[in-house]
Parts: sequence; structure tokens; C-alpha cells
Amino acid sequence: MGTVETAKGEETGASAAEGRKDALTIKDERTGRVYEVPIKHGTIRAMDLRQIKTSPDDFGLMTYDPAFMNTAHCTSRITYIDGDKGILQYRGYPIDVLAEKCTYLEVAYLLLYGELPNRKQYDEWVHAITYHTMIHESLKKVMDAFNYDAHPMGMLIATVAAMSTFYPEGRDVHDPAVRTKQVHRLIAKMPTIAAFAYKHSMGMPYVYPSNDLDYTSNFLTMLFKTPAENYKPNPTLVRALDILFILHADHEQNCGTNAMRGIGSAHTDPYSALAGAAAALYGPLHGGANEEVLKMLAEIGSISRVPEFIKEVKEGKGEKRLMGFGHRVYKNFDPRAKIIKRMAEEVFEVTGRNPLLDIALELERIALQDDYFVKRKLYPNVDFYSGLIYQAIGLPTAAFTVLFAIPRTSGWLAQWGELLEDPEEKIARPRQVYLGASERPFKAMDKR
Ligand code: ACO
Repeated sequence: MGTVETAKGEETGASAAEGRKDALTIKDERTGRVYEVPIKHGTIRAMDLRQIKTSPDDFGLMTYDPAFMNTAHCTSRITYIDGDKGILQYRGYPIDVLAEKCTYLEVAYLLLYGELPNRKQYDEWVHAITYHTMIHESLKKVMDAFNYDAHPMGMLIATVAAMSTFYPEGRDVHDPAVRTKQVHRLIAKMPTIAAFAYKHSMGMPYVYPSNDLDYTSNFLTMLFKTPAENYKPNPTLVRALDILFILHADHEQNCGTNAMRGIGSAHTDPYSALAGAAAALYGPLHGGANEEVLKMLAEIGSISRVPEFIKEVKEGKGEKRLMGFGHRVYKNFDPRAKIIKRMAEEVFEVTGRNPLLDIALELERIALQDDYFVKRKLYPNVDFYSGLIYQAIGLPTAAFTVLFAIPRTSGWLAQWGELLEDPEEKIARPRQVYLGASERPFKAMDKR
């Protein structure tokens, strides 16, 4: 071994007791040099690799990690996931406990402020949200301008982005009081925008929010009340939707949250950043999957067609996927899917059984026994059953991802606030490995 270039590793914990260091020794076979880089929280800092060079003008070693398969890009104290054990916790509380005992707004407060609210804090919080649910009439006109068949998620993304022009003070992202105001506005107005998008797609008049209703009852009322008929939401459906909101509120560094943090790192206002996060969520590999699940179940059409469909997925070798199956992090089961599956039965007692449920159950049963899915650790994810519940509640498939975006707003905003308070954060700017042409002479157009 050559000389050790750096020795920053500290002796801590179990390693220290055994006379070892929390450090990684790396030998560069190109030069014979040996480096020691500290290990903290099970990670090494990518910047510690930069010192590893073959010559003084070498840029230094980088890591290559497409799709961030093994890169932590931030520290966070919001959501904990252990994908192998199927654990999901918000601020240390297990998801099933929160789903059983809390309202969505209580959980949103927990995500944003780190602690469950006491009665006074909760009442003030609910009041602040309730009194920000109206949207500006001009914002309503922005929504009016969409074509009759506009996808509700496209409308939501564009309308949230447009909100930045209504609240220009939101650009002062370093003022905590200003941030709090935008948090109230966004959490309060998302259901209104979502419901207006739905009404627009149905060619029906918008229903304004009612301050005498709780968050979720108000949302359902804005969706289903019409000028011709009153609407009283069923308490079982209200509670089911509220639980779905809790389950979807945050999921640490997923694709949408990464977009929120990436855009937020440029100190962009929260409306524009959140529109970007929602755009990521729209994708069929992310929040758009619940819509795809329903399309898939409808395409399968009957229980007898399930084996044939599974065969097509397997033969498609990744081209055709079993939507609502698989997860980047959960490789055992998705704890949210378990809760949703149980809840689906309660909802169907009120709404009547969704005929697609039997196809879904059969699909799950066969897939969980099949070597292809077992070997790849593919299990139902949060989206596998949520769409069936949304459909039972009476929502069209195109509105499903919008229902995901409403609660995820609290998670996005919690992550955004954490980013802005983190002294280590800077503008997110990954590196690349350039494999293109090296410098070459320019050719005039007539010589090409
Ligand atoms: N159906 C069939 N095969 C699958 C599926 C699926 N749903 N998901 C993964 N695979 C296969 C892949 O083809 C691959 O096979 P290979 O090793 O033979 O090449 C293997 O399993 C690993 O898949 P990756 O794509 O590498 O896994 P990754 O972690 O990148 O993807 C993802 C995770 C995007 C969720 C994927 O499982 C998927 O596309 N699922 C369907 C879409 C879906 O339900 N998305 C919702 C996720 S939850 C959420 O975002 C809220």
C-alpha cells in the first residue's frame, strides 16, 4: 500500500470499542495511493472522493448513479422508510397508528412542524387552513380557459404555477412568516383547485368551499354538490378519503419530492416548485400509476383473463408492467397498500362492491405466487387498491392523481421548508459523465 493521503475518520461507537475507525480506506490502483474517507450515518461524502486524482489537473473521482439508486442527496428528519421491513413512519410515528388515530390535517401539521399539535395548536391550524380555501376569481378564470377535455392533473399543475403570480410575496422564501402563509394557502386551496378541475371537466358549475365543513367533507362537497341538489358526504367515505390523504402525505425522497427540493434549491417560490413536483407526480411510473391500474383492470376485463395478462407481462420483459406493483424502496410489502386493502372492504360496504376488485384480488393472488414477481420482489404498492376506492367514491380515473397531489402537498412543503433551513443545502446541480465528441473543427454548412 502507498501513503495514506487523508485520515479524517473518527473513532466512534462500536467500531471505536473494537479499536477500529468509522472510515473507508480506498486504494487507487491507477496511482497506488491510499485514501481514507470518514463514514457517517452509513455514508461517505461524495466530495471526499474528489481528492482522488491521477494528476494535479485531473478533476478528481466522482460517483456515477443514474436514477439516484444509492445516493442520499439530503439529510431529513421527516419520514423514515425501511423498505425491506415494510416500515413507514412520519416524524417517528408508524403510519398505521397515524392512519387509525389522526385526521389528515393533524398529520400535515406533524409533517410540517415536527410534533403532533395540541388542541390549541390544532384548532388554530384548522382555522388557518379553513379560512384560505377560497381561490381568487381571476384564478378561477384561468381554470375556465382550459379546454373541456383538459386532464385535471394538467389543469392542477398549471393552476398551481399560476398562483405564484397571485401571491408574489411567496418569492421571499427566507422569511418563515411568509413561508407559513404560503403553506396555509397551498394546503387550503389544493382541494378547491382539484374540485374545480373536476367540475370543469364535467362541464358543471364550480361549488365554493364551505367553512362549516372539515377539510375532507368540504372537498367531497365541492366535488359532488350541484346547484340542483344538496349533498351530504357519507362519514365512512369521508374517513376513508382522510385516511388515504394520511397515507399519501409524504414518502421521503421520491420523484416528486426530489423535484420539489431540486426546484426549491434555486429559491424559487413554493407555487412554481410545487407545480414542478406535481408534474413529476403526474407520470405513470409515479402518482399516475393509480389511473393506469384502473385502465389495466378494465383491459383485463374478467378474472379468467388474469393468467393470460400475467403471461403477457412476463413475456413483455419490462415493456408491459403490472401497474400498481413494484416499488423502488419497498421490497417486501408496501405498508400503505395493506391499510388500503382493508379499507377498500369498508368503502365497498357503503358503495357496493367494485367489480374490478375481484380482478385485482386475483391478479395479486397469482402474481404473489409467481416466480417472476417473487424473484424481483414485486408487491402491490399504494396505487394498486387506491384507485378502486376513488372509483367507488364516484371519481373518474383522470382525477386520481389529483387526489394524490392534495395530501402530498403537505409533504412537499415540509421537505421544502427543511431544505431552506438546512445550512448544508445549495442549488442542486448534479455532475455528468460526458461521453460525446471531443473538440473538433467547425464545418461550414456547404461542407457538411
Ligand atoms: N411489472 C412487471 N415487471 C416489473 C414491474 C411491474 N410492475 N416493476 C418492475 N418490474 C421488473 C422490471 O422489468 C425489472 O426486471 P428485470 O430485472 O428483468 O429487468 C425488475 O422488475 C426491476 O425493476 P426496475 O424498473 O429496475 O425497478 P425500479 O425500482 O426502477 O422501479 C417502479 C420501481 C417504477 C415503481 C416499477 O416497479 C414500476 O414501474 N411499477 C409499475 C408502476 C407503479 O405502480 N408505480 C407506482 C409506484 S408507487 C408511487 O410512485 C406512488
